[in-house]
Amino acid sequence: MNATPTKDRWTGLDAILESGWRAWADAARTPGHPFRTPVVATAGDDGDARVVVLRAVDRDAAELEFHTDARSPKVEALRRSPRLTWVFHDPAGGVQWRVRGHARLHVGDEAWRSAWERVPPPSRASYACPAAPGTVVRAPMEAIDFAGHGPRHFMVVRCHAERMDWLGLRPEGNLRAIWTREGNSWKGDWVAP
Ligand SMILES: Cc1cc2nc3c(=O)[nH]c(=O)nc-3n(C[C@H](O)[C@H](O)[C@H](O)COP(=O)(O)O)c2cc1C
Repeated sequence: MNATPTKDRWTGLDAILESGWRAWADAARTPGHPFRTPVVATAGDDGDARVVVLRAVDRDAAELEFHTDARSPKVEALRRSPRLTWVFHDPAGGVQWRVRGHARLHVGDEAWRSAWERVPPPSRASYACPAAPGTVVRAPMEAIDFAGHGPRHFMVVRCHAERMDWLGLRPEGNLRAIWTREGNSWKGDWVAP
C-alpha cells in the first residue's frame, strides 16, 4: 500500500499537502496503511516517543486523533506541555511527514463518547486494566488477566496541527516543504532537504 498517490505526486505544494490529508484520512480507516501507526513525540518528559494508532482526522479543524490510557506517562507529559509531534513514514512512497501541534485531552465529553462507540469490543479491555501503564507488576500476566472492559481509563487525544514538514525521497534529489497554519489556511514553502 502506498500512502502517496502517483497521480498528483509532488507537482506542487497544494497537491502535496492534499495528498497528506488524503493519506491520513485513509490511514485512519485502513489497518495496514503505512500512516496508520505513526510515532508521537512529547516534550513534557524530556522528549519521549512511542507508536500509536491514528484513529481519526478532521481536516477542517486541522486535527489528528489517537486514543490512550489516561494514566499513561504520555498523558502526564502532555499535561506538563501540550506540544506533540507526529512522525509518519511511507517506505514504499519515499515520504516522511512531521506534523507538529498542540494536544487537547478529552474525557467524558462528546468527542470521548463518540470515540468510545467506535472502539471494537475486543480492544475495550485494554482501557480497564487495574494496573496503570508502566507500573511494576509481580508477573506479566497480572496486567492482562483481569475482568473488565469499560471506558474507565479511556482518553481521546486530539492534536491541532500547526506545522507540517514533508520530505519526499527521489533518486534525482530529495524535496522538502514546510507549511505553517495561518488562521484557517496553510502557508507553504519549499525548503532545502
Ligand atoms: C503498533 C502499535 C500501536 C500502538 N497503539 C497505541 C495507541 O493507539 N495508543 C497508545 O496509548 N499506545 C499505543 N501503543 C503502545 C505505545 O507505543 C506505548 O508503548 C504505550 O502507550 C506507553 O507509552 P508511554 O509510556 O509513552 O505513555 C502502540 C504500540 C504499537 C507497537
